Amino acid sequence: MVVMESDLQKALRILHQSLFSDDIVRLHLYMAGTGAIGRKLLEMIERQKEYLAERKISLEICGLINSRKMIVGDKALSGSQIEQFLFDHAEKAGLGEFVDAAVRQNLENSVFVDVTAADEPVGLYHSLLSNSIAIVAANKRANTQGIDLYNSLQAAARRSSTPFHYETNVGAGLPVIGVLRSLMASGDSIIRIDAVLSGTMNYLLSEYTGNQTFTDLVRYAERNHYTEPDPRDDLSGMDVARKCLILARECGWPLELEEIRLEPLMTPEAALAPDKASFYRELEGIDIEIHHRFERATAKEKRLRYVARVECGTASVSVMEVDEQHPFYGLRGTENCISLTTKYYQQYPMVIKGPGAGVDVTSAGVLADIVRIAEGLKR
Ligand SMILES: NC(=O)c1ccc[n+]([C@@H]2O[C@H](COP(=O)([O-])OP(=O)(O)OC[C@H]3O[C@@H](n4cnc5c(N)ncnc54)[C@H](OP(=O)(O)O)[C@@H]3O)[C@@H](O)[C@H]2O)c1
Repeated sequence: MVVMESDLQKALRILHQSLFSDDIVRLHLYMAGTGAIGRKLLEMIERQKEYLAERKISLEICGLINSRKMIVGDKALSGSQIEQFLFDHAEKAGLGEFVDAAVRQNLENSVFVDVTAADEPVGLYHSLLSNSIAIVAANKRANTQGIDLYNSLQAAARRSSTPFHYETNVGAGLPVIGVLRSLMASGDSIIRIDAVLSGTMNYLLSEYTGNQTFTDLVRYAERNHYTEPDPRDDLSGMDVARKCLILARECGWPLELEEIRLEPLMTPEAALAPDKASFYRELEGIDIEIHHRFERATAKEKRLRYVARVECGTASVSVMEVDEQHPFYGLRGTENCISLTTKYYQQYPMVIKGPGAGVDVTSAGVLADIVRIAEGLKR
């Protein structure tokens, strides 16, 4: 066997581990993002230490970066170094430098964990994969840009046999992407996916009773933090369209975001309004239409849902009427629901349902992706 000189240390460590070690699989984590998900993930990794140790898995944090600062240890960071980083000042941040340091350290089983919502880390994914650094991303950016990037990252991961996991991109902690992949690996084929993927849109449509205007309901939801700080980020439907795009691509349909037929839940004038007050004034332009649609659906004993549909290489996101038999009929509040109609699940589609956002479930989903890498390395 020939080993490049630059990989000699790493090869020796792996050899030593396989000959003399206690069979513990050690992952070296370099984490970008210390916001809501990043902090909760650090907490969960600490809390699960013992449980994972019993399963011969050790997760070691070797680097942390956010938009302001970074720290990379020459070995695993201690609990107090992590605390200090979170609450104190550290080196100035530079994502390129951060990744260079991870590559230079060349530790076995390195994993880059992207819990940012930024484009910048995505530009480094190719370099990470080609250096055999696995990626676990809650960040959707890589999978929702052009199809060429999506395809080339999938190919790079396959070529280098390096994991690239992003289960939390759709449905947060709900198992969706893994299930799709398992179905396809077993020879099943996807006929149609229907999915309620926005807790906020589901909240708005399931709480609408016609007793108050849609605009007033959005105002109430914003005041109670059920929407993004700018409700347009929900009402545009773009977040649902991005998740829908990922589902389509996972099914093997090479769509671009612009090819998704998207029905926003606001008027074009509201989308362009320069400030909050004029946004709400313009949003009133959709009140009558929503009311009519609600009445039409109610008259047929149906309910309105905001549904992403992927079928035969096409995708759409729109308001749909669903009847009592439909799995979306009983959805309440901020639930997500994904219904998979496949060759094997044709008469009774497979239904996955639960909270589709939230710090706990999302961080747990990211941790599950990380642990999956460790499980895959066990002999
Ligand atoms: N929250 C949820 O329920 C949920 C559900 C599903 C998926 N997700 C996804 O999870 C990801 C993280 O969400 P979050 O709620 O934790 O977001 P967040 O609280 O806004 O945190 C984002 C973190 O990314 C850091 N960051 C931003 N740009 C960066 C850059 N260029 N380089 C390095 N770090 C950078 C920020 O740094 P600063 O600390 O310096 O600002 C912050 O620490 C997002 O992609 C989101 O879509 C979240």
